[in-house]
Amino acid sequence: MGFKDGFVWGAATASYQVEGAVTEGGRGLTVWDEFARMPGKTFSGHTGDVAADHYHRYAEDVAIMKALGLKAYRFSVAWSRILPQGYGAVNEEGLRFYKNLVDELVKNGIEPYVTLFHWDLPYGLYRIGGWQNPAITDYFAEYARIVAEYLGDKVKHYITFNEPQCFIGLGHVTGEHAPGNIMSRRAVLEMAHHVLLAHGKATKVLRKVAPHAKIGYAPTCSAHYPYTQKQEDVEAARMATFDICPDPDNFMWNIPWWSDPVLFGKYPEEGVRLYRDIMPEIGAKDMEVISEPIDFYCQNIYNGSAVRADGNGGYRYVPREPGYARTSIGWPVTPESLYWGPRFLYERYQKPFYISENGMAAHDSVSLDGKVHDPNRIDFLQRYLRCLKKTAEEGTPVEGYFLWSLMDNYEWSKGYSERFGIVHVDYKTQVRTIKDSGYWYRDVIAGNGVHL
Ligand code: NOJ
Repeated sequence: MGFKDGFVWGAATASYQVEGAVTEGGRGLTVWDEFARMPGKTFSGHTGDVAADHYHRYAEDVAIMKALGLKAYRFSVAWSRILPQGYGAVNEEGLRFYKNLVDELVKNGIEPYVTLFHWDLPYGLYRIGGWQNPAITDYFAEYARIVAEYLGDKVKHYITFNEPQCFIGLGHVTGEHAPGNIMSRRAVLEMAHHVLLAHGKATKVLRKVAPHAKIGYAPTCSAHYPYTQKQEDVEAARMATFDICPDPDNFMWNIPWWSDPVLFGKYPEEGVRLYRDIMPEIGAKDMEVISEPIDFYCQNIYNGSAVRADGNGGYRYVPREPGYARTSIGWPVTPESLYWGPRFLYERYQKPFYISENGMAAHDSVSLDGKVHDPNRIDFLQRYLRCLKKTAEEGTPVEGYFLWSLMDNYEWSKGYSERFGIVHVDYKTQVRTIKDSGYWYRDVIAGNGVHL
């Protein structure tokens, strides 16, 4: 009992957050390059210009992954390294970078999990309407084809999109993230529809050019859990987890709008009712395109809330205890999310399941002894992984876990102020130091989670 044999123990990063080298190798500008330069948008005006310099140090980083015994590395391809404008001319130097990275990983026995889009939209595409322009759906599929053809059979896992809730919701509803262009709800739903179509079209193309590869999708959200084990509270937590609009300030922050079309081929009825006056135009074949079958379902899960039945067929959040545990970024520590989240998601979507991100931010630093002691992260990971193990033992087909993040990196609008890595990065010198949690994770991996 425990995690299955061959469980995929991984760690994740994303292009703009780690690569740096934004003007090198023929890379085109992205919405993040522009946004980060706007006054007041990011912590202390930080940009991803240098980040963790992974572009130049990928070989050293793969050596660290090997030392940690990672089975898999989830990274994203920067669309604008492949097609500097997002469409049109192809930049072979960009393709070569990812090929070299993949070769290095495979040589070291680490399985690449390639995410095609992790928020760094080419600025050239943004200039012609970004996600609002229907042409983007074909441009994305074409980009997927170019990447998969070039990388060949060494890549056996692709993930189309990471957290659409964020690049659409934070990018266009709240404006906290790039491009920070707040749009009407109608326009936002139209953009969401284009993201879903792009996902479906890319899936179809990948199936053709990479028949050996498995294809997945990685949304995010809060994973709520019942306050008691009573069935009514379990149902209340499920209801909260799949609520179509739990946060009126960011109505894109939900699971069903983003996942039902992909897995069920239809928008959730509750949402269709709610948004009836502003629904996007849906072409006759659109839902068929969007629901092109995928092989696995991923979810990034960080936290959630305790939920109870409200006695009227609805749910209510249980207020958090005074002084509840929080990470440095302010997020609550709720390990139960890793038991109930996968369970609810599998019960609904019935696909082999991965945690594509989970982890915590802390204000880590190098101690006088030259080490990075992060006992809180070890405690956090142990609590969360115990819950994941329990859900796996009880029958949820959990295939893998990707810790966010392999190394400290650019935390979007929070710049470098939050550290999520199990490897510390000194941004002045780019020296990497494996944190205590990194060594701890290495031992967890070596024992396939048996001592958790
Ligand atoms: C979600 C995102 O996918 C990733 O880019 C981000 O850094 C982490 N979660 C932490 O916020």
